Amino acid sequence: MTSAGFPLLDIRQLSVFYSGLQVLWDVSLYVNKGEIVTLLGANGAGKTTLVQSVFGLTRDQKGHIFFEGNDITGLPAYEMVKRGLALVPEKRELFPKMTVEENLEIGGFSKKGEIVELEEIFDFFPILKERKKQLAGTLSGGEQQMLAIARALIPKPSMIVLDEPSLGLSPLIVSSVLDAIKKLNEEGLSILLVEQNVQHALEMSHRGYILETGRIVREGTSSDLLHDDQVQASYLGT
Ligand SMILES: Nc1ncnc2c1ncn2[C@@H]1O[C@H](COP(=O)(O)OP(=O)(O)OP(=O)(O)O)[C@@H](O)[C@H]1O
Ligand SMILES: [Mg+2]
Repeated sequence: MTSAGFPLLDIRQLSVFYSGLQVLWDVSLYVNKGEIVTLLGANGAGKTTLVQSVFGLTRDQKGHIFFEGNDITGLPAYEMVKRGLALVPEKRELFPKMTVEENLEIGGFSKKGEIVELEEIFDFFPILKERKKQLAGTLSGGEQQMLAIARALIPKPSMIVLDEPSLGLSPLIVSSVLDAIKKLNEEGLSILLVEQNVQHALEMSHRGYILETGRIVREGTSSDLLHDDQVQASYLGT
């Protein structure tokens, strides 16, 4: 896999604090146009904090975040969406009492101008078409994740950030969700993927970073990380 391009998302020396307590230390990470980059790390390492800080959802931070070369540090989430950066949050945040279709219509709300037609979304996620009149809260976990991803695609982002899209899903469903993400990348979407399925995530991505207790301890191409002794011992159980 090649990963030519320029940094679309560029996080530089980010530190984040909660009530004065530091949880991220000088984290630097970039995603080039066209790449899938995986962010790996154990529970509590600070992955969600990193993602939230990109979308202006943390309050106390140092460092800078650039998107397409513009400093976006601290801008609100809707501003990110306007600029073409979308989030699929850890908790999915669907509207359970609304139908699949209605949840998707809400996805188009944040951005003026271009949106993806629902039919295009349904071509990509046929299961959502079958279920379009069903209440989101009654979908299976995998279907809900597909819906969360689909909703993020409506404002035509150039990049999406996915926070543990496979959380709570059975292995077979994990594969279908990750395969869909890979396919989106092949269609040109740049992706930052937070995952704990280390093997699968690295196999489908260009590069990766490992976050341990708030610090990047390893970074490299996915194949280098997959063959790294320490990564194998700590994350792949080999
Ligand atoms: N709002 C908050 N207030 C105070 N501390 C927080 C807050 N959110 C997260 N933390 C702490 O920051 C650290 C990093 O949490 P974070 O949720 O970013 O980790 P994570 O890598 O996403 O973990 P997981 O894999 O379990 O989702 C943890 O110690 C957590 O307890
Ligand atoms: Mg998290």
